Amino acid sequence: MQVAVLGYGTVGGGVYAMLQSARGLEPGPVLVRPGKVKEKFQTSDLEAILSDDKVGAVAEVMGGIDPAFSYAKKVLESGKHFVTSNKALCAAHGLELAALARQKGLGFLFSSACGGGVPFLHNLSLATRSDTITSISGILNGTTNYMLDNMQRRGLDYQEALSDAQLLGYAEADPTADVSGLDALRKIMLGCAVAFGRLPTGGLLCEGIENFTAGDVADLRSRKLACRLIASGAPVGKTVSTCVEPMVFPQSAPECSVVMNFNMTKYIGQKCGPIVLMGQGAGRFPTASAVLRDLSSLLTGEREMFPADCVAVEADNSREKRKYYVRCHSDAASLLPLERLLMNGFTIRAVTEPVSPEEMHNLAKKIRNNGGSLFFAAMEDE
Ligand code: HSE
Repeated sequence: MQVAVLGYGTVGGGVYAMLQSARGLEPGPVLVRPGKVKEKFQTSDLEAILSDDKVGAVAEVMGGIDPAFSYAKKVLESGKHFVTSNKALCAAHGLELAALARQKGLGFLFSSACGGGVPFLHNLSLATRSDTITSISGILNGTTNYMLDNMQRRGLDYQEALSDAQLLGYAEADPTADVSGLDALRKIMLGCAVAFGRLPTGGLLCEGIENFTAGDVADLRSRKLACRLIASGAPVGKTVSTCVEPMVFPQSAPECSVVMNFNMTKYIGQKCGPIVLMGQGAGRFPTASAVLRDLSSLLTGEREMFPADCVAVEADNSREKRKYYVRCHSDAASLLPLERLLMNGFTIRAVTEPVSPEEMHNLAKKIRNNGGSLFFAAMEDE
């Protein structure tokens, strides 16, 4: 099957290179922006790709919602399978594209949109056929994991770590999506849709690593703790919980052995128990290999990842309670339900009583709206 590629950036270049030697697949035209055509295989004419009968599938690796969404619809309307690594597109319009693909009898696969090279969504989708998934979680952003790991293990400062992650091709075009947690949030939204048949589109909680400082690194290290950015989702009644936030773990915890751009993904099945998959979560070839995996799956008849009855829901993050490690100005301390003070002074460090993620994120918003600065991270159950 000939595959056209939309986009020739970090991942697009990797997909095109891998198509040269992929079994059952061959490289077709590559769409680039007008004025950017440099090679014979490149074109800026989408219509030419859509009307080319030799092209059986299109892999979109441009990122962003616009124009990717309108291109995706045109690809499916033209009768070609659609594979994408675009988490923003799938989180915003995945249900619509899945319905269109189903109506046309075509494939719409996006396992490369979550976990980079880690086959998380692919395995999650398989697992739902024989088991009931009770929760999903993990480190789902390579850029922030690279930053946290290098800040804590090698003493890099925040900006240095971010610049390195950008140079290595891990970060989004606008790295705000990485450091704010939005990229991980989109990925866990897709995970919830695949695992539970519920795509959470509102009520989502998202805290990134922008408030994590060298002072936090030093304090956590003195307590033999380390920080990772964790995304999680689980069924709650007819809806799901969906949250991204920093978490602190004992340095000996498995999460702390996830280094550099690696991701660690986990699902728990009622019958199979916990399954953990770990590997490179960002970068040219890890992500391109996941795109190729989806393209190969088309050859064996795989067509969809969302369950047919998947619906959009409002997330509920008010149920499960956890303790939080917090650092803030002493003025803000009275706003927080503190259980234990770790460090007193102008800046305090403390552990809260068990609160729901919704309560903690709301309290943080209130403190920041009052001009206060704050870092918080969920703690594992003691
Ligand atoms: N910017 C993303 C990350 C790329 O760092 O994980 C892979 O989705």
